[in-house]
Order: sequence, then C-alpha cells, then structure tokens
Amino acid sequence: MKIPQRTSIISGLFVFVWVGLSAVNIQEGGHFTNLKVLPKNMTEEEMDFVMTAIKKQLGVNCYYCHKTEGTGSSERFDFASDEKPEKKIARQMLKMTIKLNKKYFGIKSTIAALYKPMVSCKTCHFGQPVPSLIK
Ligand code: HEC
Ligand code: HEC
Repeated sequence: MKIPQRTSIISGLFVFVWVGLSAVNIQEGGHFTNLKVLPKNMTEEEMDFVMTAIKKQLGVNCYYCHKTEGTGSSERFDFASDEKPEKKIARQMLKMTIKLNKKYFGIKSTIAALYKPMVSCKTCHFGQPVPSLIK
C-alpha cells in the first residue's frame, strides 16, 4: 500500500499574501454574523484570504458551500446561511485543521493557523472536494 507524503506543503504565495495583508490590515472586523469557528472579529480582507484559500485547496468555487438567493442578475450569495451541508462539513474541517496546527504543531493563534498552516485543507484534499488517496 502506498502511503502518501502530503504533510506541511503550503505555497510561498500564502506567506507573501500574508505579509502584504498585514500591511493593509487596518479595516475593522466584526461584519460577519454566523461565525462558529473563525474569529468573530475577522476583517473582510482576512475572510477573503481564508475563503479563497479554502476554495483553491478543494478545487471548487464559493457555490460549493454557500447558498444563493434569486436568479439571473438578481442572484446573491447568502454567506451566513448554513443551509448547504457542504458548509457544515467544511466548518468541522476548519475546526479540525486549526486544532491540528495548534495542538500538534505548536502554532499559537487561530489566525496564524489559518495564514501559515503546517496542515491545511490541501494536505488531505489536494485540489479535490472529496479527498482521494488513490491516484
Ligand atoms: C469548502 C466550503 C467553503 C467554500 C468553498 C467557501 N466558503 Fe465561505 N464559509 C465556509 C464556512 C464553513 C464558513 C463559516 C465559518 C465559521 O463558522 O466560522 C464560511 C463563512 C463565510 C463568510 C462569513 C458569513 C457570515 O456572515 O458569517 C463569508 C463572507 C464567506 N464565507 C465568503 C466566501 C466566499 C466569497 C467564497 C468564495 C471565494 C467562499 N466563502 C467559499 C465555507 C466555505
Ligand atoms: C486530515 C485530512 C483532512 C484535512 C486537513 C481536511 N479534510 Fe476535508 N475531508 C477529509 C476527508 C477524509 C473527507 C471525506 C469524508 C467522508 O467522505 O466522509 C473530507 C471531506 C470534506 C468535505 C465534504 C466533501 C463532500 O462533498 O462530501 C468538505 C466540504 C471538506 N472536507 C472541507 C475541508 C476544508 C475546507 C478543509 C480545510 C479547512 C479540510 N476539509 C481539511 C479530510 C481532510
């Protein structure tokens, strides 16, 4: 049986974006209404960074987890809605991933676990919504 070696690979781009963001991170947080795992005082930029990272690492788009309302040109995301099961699973996955970084890799804060993770969604998912260990 082949055991995949998929630990602690995170692109240098993340670190680069993180440095860039911390420089412009002056906007106030607290705009979000339904956060159960992510810090409630996250800024728009931080949220954007985390959601974009998740999306890429699973090879999906925002629709995969977030429900929309309306159709055609009046279609809007309802990001706070928990209606989609994928979002609920993703929340548990976020919780697990943050915990892995903190508990087993000694990363101190939640935000550091999100920005410079040792274990990320990519570690297991590798660009797929459902991880497959068989290539
Ligand atoms: C794999 C699933 C997944 C994908 C893809 C995803 N999100 Fe999320 N998103 C979540 C989860 C889970 C939460 C709630 C986190 C929590 O409870 O702390 C969330 C929360 C949010 C929130 C905060 C809503 C609120 O008010 O509480 C915003 C805004 C958001 N996502 C935007 C986006 C955008 C924009 C994209 C596409 C770039 C995206 N998300 C892609 C899973 C996802
Ligand atoms: C330690 C490995 C691991 C990590 C890290 C991980 N996942 Fe997963 N994830 C899995 C496995 C395994 C499954 C499939 C579970 C099943 O089929 O019951 C899964 C399933 C999912 C699903 C459900 C897919 C579907 O449509 O059925 C979502 C959404 C998801 N993960 C999101 C995430 C996000 C977002 C992250 C990063 C914050 C993440 N995962 C990190 C292992 C992982």
